[in-house]
Amino acid sequence: MGKKLVIGSSGQIGTELIHTLTKIYGENQVVATDIYPKQEGKHDGVLFLKMDVLDSIHLASVVKEYEISEVYLLAALLSAVSESKIKSAWDLNMNGLFNVLELARQGQIKKVFWPSSIAVFGPTSPKENSPQQSILEPNTVYGISKSAGERWCDYYHQKFNVDVRSIRYPGIISYKSLPGGGTTDYAVDIFHEAIKHQRYSCFIEKDVYLPMMYMDDAIRATIELMQVEKSTLSTFKSYNIAALSFSPDDIAKEISTYIPDFKINYSPDFRNKIAKSWPSSINDQDARKDWGWKQEFDLKKMTLKMIEGIKSNNSLVSSSI
Ligand SMILES: NC(=O)c1ccc[n+]([C@@H]2O[C@H](COP(=O)([O-])OP(=O)(O)OC[C@H]3O[C@@H](n4cnc5c(N)ncnc54)[C@H](O)[C@@H]3O)[C@@H](O)[C@H]2O)c1
Repeated sequence: MGKKLVIGSSGQIGTELIHTLTKIYGENQVVATDIYPKQEGKHDGVLFLKMDVLDSIHLASVVKEYEISEVYLLAALLSAVSESKIKSAWDLNMNGLFNVLELARQGQIKKVFWPSSIAVFGPTSPKENSPQQSILEPNTVYGISKSAGERWCDYYHQKFNVDVRSIRYPGIISYKSLPGGGTTDYAVDIFHEAIKHQRYSCFIEKDVYLPMMYMDDAIRATIELMQVEKSTLSTFKSYNIAALSFSPDDIAKEISTYIPDFKINYSPDFRNKIAKSWPSSINDQDARKDWGWKQEFDLKKMTLKMIEGIKSNNSLVSSSI
């Protein structure tokens, strides 16, 4: 069994994925890379390297030198940031994927994980319970890149038998690592601000529902999908997975049960428009049927975990804007 390479390991998901992969497969089996690594060299047995996924030569040499068999490609520009960096977002979100898919096509890696997003849906997709197969006409830079990425994953699978697995992540909520500029970041920021200042100014309207998921569920889904027998999968484009669906008002009310003085006010900005173009809930029956996906965290359980986690981890400062 070869090693696992995580690309984008300093980000919100990468930080936690490395930890779990290390626990499952052992420290020496995971190589963590990022264009801005949090550290370099060996830390707690894991090797951290600086690497730009757009540098295909460096990527190929890392794959060869460290005998990588699986790649988790997490490097991307997220939805809010992508709107002001159209070309860089397209470049990173597409060419990063091509560089990895090409290595898989050449047989240098065996398996790829590439996350898509609920951003592939757009204003013309069904709003409620959006199905796996649906109209996909995203109207954001990020959504367009994710939707094209899904097509490329399917193409490389069909044409070259590349084993590339994918999930349309909803908004991911976590306290150990901060979000990197997405539209659903409000659902993380709100906890930090509620604990620090007992108030939050929300950039999404009060009653906009979005699909969300607690980080532990997202990491488990990722690893379960990568471990399952290839023959049980019915799609190599990207799986819908669902866990929670809530509005800013719902989460504010839940937080108030622990922080009674908490106050929220609403000041929607451009991210509100992005949020309103996305579904409010997702149908994930294929993931449940094919590989037994099931979430563990509901709004109550997640809120408690977030509040306890942030209080015991107060060195992190909310950075999203
Ligand atoms: N976090 C979410 O809520 C969410 C939701 C849906 C999909 N996703 C997808 O999951 C993946 C990971 O998301 P995240 O939230 O951890 O993102 P993030 O922004 O927190 O982390 C991305 C990481 O990629 C690194 N990076 C940027 N350019 C790079 C390059 N050229 N080479 C190597 N590394 C580079 C960044 O330094 C950063 O550490 C992305 O593909 C994202 O689109 C995330």
